[in-house]
Amino acid sequence: MKPIKVGLLGIGTVGAGTFTVLQRNQAEISARAGRAIQIVMVADLNVERARELTHGECEVVSDGNLVVTHPDIDIVIELIGGYGIAKDLVMKAIANGKHVVTANKALLAVHGNEIFKAAQDKGVIVAFEAAVAGGIPIIKALREGLTANRIQWVAGIINGTTNFILSEMRDKGLDFATVLQEAQRLGYAEADPTFDIEGVDAAHKITLMASIAFGIPVQFDKAHIEGITKLQAIDIRYAEQLGYRIKLLGIAKRTPQGIELRVHPTLIPAKRLIANVEGAMNAVLVHGDAVGATLYYGKGAGAEPTASAVIADLVDITRLANADPQHRVPHLAFQADAMNDTPILPMSEITTSYYLRMQVADQPGVLADVTRILADSGISIDAMLQKEPAEEATQTDIIMLTHRTQEKNVVAAIAKIEQLPTVVGSVNKIRLEELS
Ligand code: HSE
Repeated sequence: MKPIKVGLLGIGTVGAGTFTVLQRNQAEISARAGRAIQIVMVADLNVERARELTHGECEVVSDGNLVVTHPDIDIVIELIGGYGIAKDLVMKAIANGKHVVTANKALLAVHGNEIFKAAQDKGVIVAFEAAVAGGIPIIKALREGLTANRIQWVAGIINGTTNFILSEMRDKGLDFATVLQEAQRLGYAEADPTFDIEGVDAAHKITLMASIAFGIPVQFDKAHIEGITKLQAIDIRYAEQLGYRIKLLGIAKRTPQGIELRVHPTLIPAKRLIANVEGAMNAVLVHGDAVGATLYYGKGAGAEPTASAVIADLVDITRLANADPQHRVPHLAFQADAMNDTPILPMSEITTSYYLRMQVADQPGVLADVTRILADSGISIDAMLQKEPAEEATQTDIIMLTHRTQEKNVVAAIAKIEQLPTVVGSVNKIRLEELS
């Protein structure tokens, strides 16, 4: 059979990795796909570099429009990133009847509904395994492997940069700013790491997983997003003393009231496997009603790990390209006409446990005042740590872990605790998930 022809938009790190792996493993990939997969055209603004990377083996152009309109190209890989030109070219590729493979989580999290609808109408596939957790086949697992399940929750360490920073903060007892600088020096963090450290990248990914897990439209605008920039080394230390680690988690949870969709630093029990995912690695925990908890672990970024996901999508499309569109796996796992509109809950309505740290005057009755406020708010205390004041100090830290309660109860209780004359400054709150 003739090779399937592919056009590549953007040959940066992942594009170059895709080119290399496709060439290196050509025989096995063709044997799996049923025909050869050949990149015939690359578009990149840096034409010289693109020529070097492709060793003159395919046509190189600077204008992506030439790729998405090329009559011989069956699949377009979009590795440009962002919402601007990438969106225009993806929409044009679809309009021209091309299948699309993309690693662009930002694009799909924000414009996914429009893109998937256009693809559905045109009978083409938009595949995005590389957009979530790099080389881990989590989209495949959620969409196909776990298809028998009513998925209850998904919780993932889905940003390598922040996991690297948190691991270093814990290992070396350093503060956030120091570790970030070191991560940038070593090339682990981007020169502009905003999307990573503010939790936006993780929110893009959990938004996509929530849609697939629960059959809801993509709703990035409803995700609650908190990054790690305000996390203090002292909280990592206290969490450890209480048997927990702090990770930046993306969480999507089904509840009777609606869906929780949130990204924030989270205490998780140190004994859980996922708590031991260190450095830049990613891991996703999925709980289905039939299967129970399943854990997926691997590299969430990098040239060849991400290329592994891009090529898996190329092979899937190659196998399915001639199948009747009605019989393909739907983009978001559920048939387009069987999606549901279960609401995403506001943060005030979510239910979880909490770590609370406060600095208090070391005098009688302080603890009683705090616990009374918590009790009056219906919040039950699970564990407590009181630090001995440093010599001659008149203040000390109290750390409390609560049982599960609604966020609005905790917010109201904290406001009251902060009014107590014996409590100094603000109460630091970090959410806690048992993940059991
Ligand atoms: N910047 C991401 C990370 C990888 O640090 O995991 C791409 O989403």
